[in-house]
Amino acid sequence: MSVHYKEIKRITTHVLQEMKERGEKISMLTAYDFSMAKILDAAKVDVLLVGDSASNVMAGHMTTLPITLDQMIYHASSVIRGIYRALVVVDLPFGSYQGNSKEALISAIRIMKESGAHAIKLEGGEEILESIKRIVSSGIPVMGHLGLTPQSIYKFGTFEVRAKEEAEAQKLIRDAHILQEAGCFAIVLEKIPAVLATKVATEIKIPVIGIGAGGGVDGQVLVTHDLLGISKDFSPRFIRRYLNLYDEILNAVGKYIDDVKNLDFPNEKEQY
Ligand code: KIV
Repeated sequence: MSVHYKEIKRITTHVLQEMKERGEKISMLTAYDFSMAKILDAAKVDVLLVGDSASNVMAGHMTTLPITLDQMIYHASSVIRGIYRALVVVDLPFGSYQGNSKEALISAIRIMKESGAHAIKLEGGEEILESIKRIVSSGIPVMGHLGLTPQSIYKFGTFEVRAKEEAEAQKLIRDAHILQEAGCFAIVLEKIPAVLATKVATEIKIPVIGIGAGGGVDGQVLVTHDLLGISKDFSPRFIRRYLNLYDEILNAVGKYIDDVKNLDFPNEKEQY
């Protein structure tokens, strides 16, 4: 019997809060296109992040800085067409919110209106407080992002673990509280010591989702292409590869090329 989509319980920000309260871990993965979103949603991942990592993974840039608001909206609307269940969160790209809170609100509204996404994410703490408050007060759910924030890579200078020093760790804890008070429904913590991430997740009430932040948080996020082993160029220790799709695809395409060259494809049954 097929399951009608109306029978599927959709994940909302409230469902994520309930998950934290009952100690159920939240699963989150990136998606940038319709086909992958459809598979990930069928697998019942809780949150799909249309990350600005699309700039690296889909477009081949070295950083997340070049991707534009229009490109994020294109990716997000493709993902939205593939899902029934997951909560879809979209990154505000670099340059679309740092100017002032009005610009941030206009960018967030464009994402919600033009893609049909359910929430937005932006990077930073106290520095972007006014923008977060303005977006939240317009009714748009906001996810925060602290720790290694890739849009600031030229300020950091490296992709090393953040907040190892006491002063930065204290600022991160303060920022997490500020984001919670400003009305964020969840926070991503990227590449920080596990002990610090656990402390934040214990202190604040909203869900904390980690990437390279250990197991003491309320959920985990990975870039789907890393989990599937589509790319081999990027191997920090926080990635667990569940497949080696790079080699699988290489083999499959190699066989196809051989079959075409050897006149083995198409065969009698594969033609009209
Ligand atoms: O853009 C992205 O993929 C992200 C995750 C790494 C959290 O922000």
